[in-house]
This record gives sequence, C-alpha cells and structure tokens, in this order.
Amino acid sequence: MEKTSLIIAPSMLSSDFSRTAEEVESIKASGAQWVHLDVMDGRFVPNITFGPKFIKDLRPHSDLVFDTHLMVDEPERFITHFAQSGSDHITVHAEATVHLHRTLQMIRDCGCKAGVSLIPSSSVSSILPILDMVDLILIMTVNPGFGGQSLIPSTLEKIGELASIREKKGYKYLISVDGGINLSTVATIAKLGADVAVCGSAFFCEQDRAAFVRAMKEQAKA
Ligand code: DX5
Ligand code: ZN
Repeated sequence: MEKTSLIIAPSMLSSDFSRTAEEVESIKASGAQWVHLDVMDGRFVPNITFGPKFIKDLRPHSDLVFDTHLMVDEPERFITHFAQSGSDHITVHAEATVHLHRTLQMIRDCGCKAGVSLIPSSSVSSILPILDMVDLILIMTVNPGFGGQSLIPSTLEKIGELASIREKKGYKYLISVDGGINLSTVATIAKLGADVAVCGSAFFCEQDRAAFVRAMKEQAKA
C-alpha cells in the first residue's frame, strides 16, 4: 500500500456502543483516515466484542477505510463473513491460524487487503516467509483484549526491524501499531517507521477529536 504521512486509525472498541453511528461519523469529522474494528472471540483473547453484522450496519455511516482486526482463533472460518460485511482490510493474528499463508491468500481472494498481526511475545522471524504477501503488519504494543493499557516498550524494536526489512527487500506493506498509542507515544513509533497509529481510548476520551488528530500528526513529524 502507498506510504503517506501518519495515518490515524481510531478504534471503535473505545467508542460508546449505544451511539455507534454517531461515533463512527465523528472519526471522519476529526480528519482521521481509517476506522479500526476490533473483533474479539473470548478465546484467542479474554474479551468479546462484535461480529460481521455490527460492521455491516456501520458501513453506510462511513466511507473511510474499514480496518478489521480479528482477534479470533482460526480466523479462516470467518474471512468471507468479514469481507462481505464491508471490511477493506482484514488482519489476522499469526498466532491464531496454523496455515497463515493460506489464510492470507483467502483474504486476498475475497478482494480485501491482507494484514498479519503479532502479539507482544511473538517475533518478526515467525512471519518472514509471508512478508511478500501482506499489505499491512499490525504490531501489538499491548497484550490484545482491552483498550486503555500502557504500551510495552520491548515491542517497539519490531517496528524498526520491519521497516528495515521493507527497505532492504522492496516490500510495500504498511506498519501499523496498536495499543497504548497517544500523544506521548506517537512520536516514538513514527520515528521507528510506523505508518499507522491505532488509537482507541486516547481518541474517544477527547471532546475535540479534530484537535487531537492534528496534534497526533504534529507529534509524528516532530
Ligand atoms: C486491543 C485492541 C486495540 C485497542 C487499543 O486489543 O486491538 O485496537 O482498541 O486501545 P488503546 O488505544 O486504548 O490502547
Ligand atoms: Zn486492534
């Protein structure tokens, strides 16, 4: 995918679920570019959120990129459902699917951009064989399952590692970072080579979300 200035991807996980249409509309109004959608199954992660119907119902309320993050075991069982729900990107966890190559191919065959994610304890080496077929890599900087956690510093070096592999091999994937991203941490991830900042609690706790997005982009240039 094409690299631009830092993409801000607010996560609907931290939105008010009783007002999801307004909340997703506030993302476009803020100047953020992607809508991050966290799907949790209560098994791969210790929390449950929503399924494809939720995404399908949100779809008419936004023309932004829908960036779906599947935190579910055996995500291959659900790829077609999430593609049909209107997801533009589908990201699966390397740890959740045995045949990662086949699962990524399924995503591409459905016409979606394919993403792979790593939890904090997984290494970049585990995904080296599939780097040529992904559009997006999502580095988890917290243990997935909940919003509002603090970034785990030891996860950061994977961003630089992926940026340097991309440079060396001529790959085109974007590097997205998810967990504990806010005005204090965004400059660090941007310097290391992140293209996308997922932010849940930091975005939705703001009254003035447009000012927040502007400040995040400023920080990223600093
Ligand atoms: C956590 C999710 C995140 C979450 C981030 O498992 O994948 O996308 O919404 O929330 P914050 O930005 O509050 O850490
Ligand atoms: Zn996420």
